Amino acid sequence: MGDPPAPPERTHRIRIFAAADRGMGMGHLGGKVAFVPLTAPGDTVLAAAVRDKRRHVVCRLVEVIEPSPLRREPPCPAFGRCGGCHWQHLPYPEQWRAKAESFRKFVRSRLGDGVEGRFRDPLPSPREFGYRNRVGWKVRWIEGGARVGYFAQGTHRLVEIDDCPIAHPALRERLGPLRAFLQAFPPARGHLPQVDLQVDDEGRVWGVFHLLRPPTPEERTRLREFCRSAGIAAAHLQAGRKETLEPLAPGPEAMRFRVRAGGRDLWYGVRPGGFVQANPGVNQALVDEVTELAPLYRGADALDLYAGAGNFTLPLALAARRVVAVEGYPPAAQDLARNALELGWTHVEARAEPAARAVERLGREGFRPRFALLDPPREGAADAAAPLADLGPDHILYVSCSPPTLVRDLGLLLGRGYRVEWIRAADMFPQTAHLESLALLRRL
Ligand SMILES: C[S@@+](CC[C@H](N)C(=O)[O-])C[C@H]1O[C@@H](n2cnc3c(N)ncnc32)[C@H](O)[C@@H]1O
Repeated sequence: MGDPPAPPERTHRIRIFAAADRGMGMGHLGGKVAFVPLTAPGDTVLAAAVRDKRRHVVCRLVEVIEPSPLRREPPCPAFGRCGGCHWQHLPYPEQWRAKAESFRKFVRSRLGDGVEGRFRDPLPSPREFGYRNRVGWKVRWIEGGARVGYFAQGTHRLVEIDDCPIAHPALRERLGPLRAFLQAFPPARGHLPQVDLQVDDEGRVWGVFHLLRPPTPEERTRLREFCRSAGIAAAHLQAGRKETLEPLAPGPEAMRFRVRAGGRDLWYGVRPGGFVQANPGVNQALVDEVTELAPLYRGADALDLYAGAGNFTLPLALAARRVVAVEGYPPAAQDLARNALELGWTHVEARAEPAARAVERLGREGFRPRFALLDPPREGAADAAAPLADLGPDHILYVSCSPPTLVRDLGLLLGRGYRVEWIRAADMFPQTAHLESLALLRRL
């Protein structure tokens, strides 16, 4: 005897009254707030409860019964299935307002009402599509063919894509040729899980092919030929951690990026594997924030933690007397040193070391910067916060890509004699749930 049929799913009619985080709409269900993904304020929807919590219910969208006039047709046909984007169903000003507002509420809920009045206007992205200068396309061999796409939200299930409208046009153009090439490339049958493409500010496209086994000489030749025909300037192979990166063929060594600061273009090189901000327009807005703060560090010592190849170090060094830049990935720290040297700047010192250890060492060396910037990865800087406060910079600019770790670390710094001067959201990743933010702290 087979299993008895599953009981029919219970659905509820919910009117969405506001936008929440991650592209969700808020409604009411059974006296609690209900969060329904992919909905817009003004929608009436059918939804099923998937997680019933003490104060709220998380739902699954079953059907939009009456669409809100705010809705738009999502430009990407994979929207709703692909895990990359959460907001395409709302026009950009609406999604950005909702994202910035939920950031504001979140920060206030964690840091208290004292931060109210300290929020600066959020910085939108100059482009809502075509902004992303790097992609990491997943590759899977399914039903006799190579499929290329992204994972569905919260899973490792591939959603095949024909296009990715948030990606830079130079990357979108390569998707079709890449997929065609992979159909007859043996490693794509289970040994090539991902291909990364990045476009630099000179318009060159760079590729990293993640391979689980070394390619044969013939496979190398075919990969080189593909890159030539697809206009990929330089390709690298990676077998696990990024320390394993090796060039597929001799070629240009470093991608070139540019920021504008102090009325001039500052160019810098980043070798594949090094970090690059994903949205050049918003990155420039962040750099503008750093240069506008120059009166706080002009002629003084400054510290740049989690410095990458120098995206913020170089703008800081235009005004500072000396900049110590700390970066934990040694090749990026080498890039940073070389980038400063190419400008003839000897007042920039790159240290390849984990931030917390470097800050403790700098403290022992008696380094007392007047200004510090930190731009950690998603995990934040919990281990570096206390030693940083001990160095006693007058101001700290925290650039964050993760609101939860930002507020945790701000809490640590507030407990060590700092206060929030201002805080600001920046939309580095339109259409997605990700959010960049900046906070300026002052020592009391
Ligand atoms: C968000 S990126 C920022 C890079 C740079 N500020 C920029 O704008 O391009 C974070 C950087 O921190 C580095 N990193 C990660 N963990 C680190 C640690 N514990 N100590 C120092 N650097 C670290 C990463 O290699 C990466 O370059």
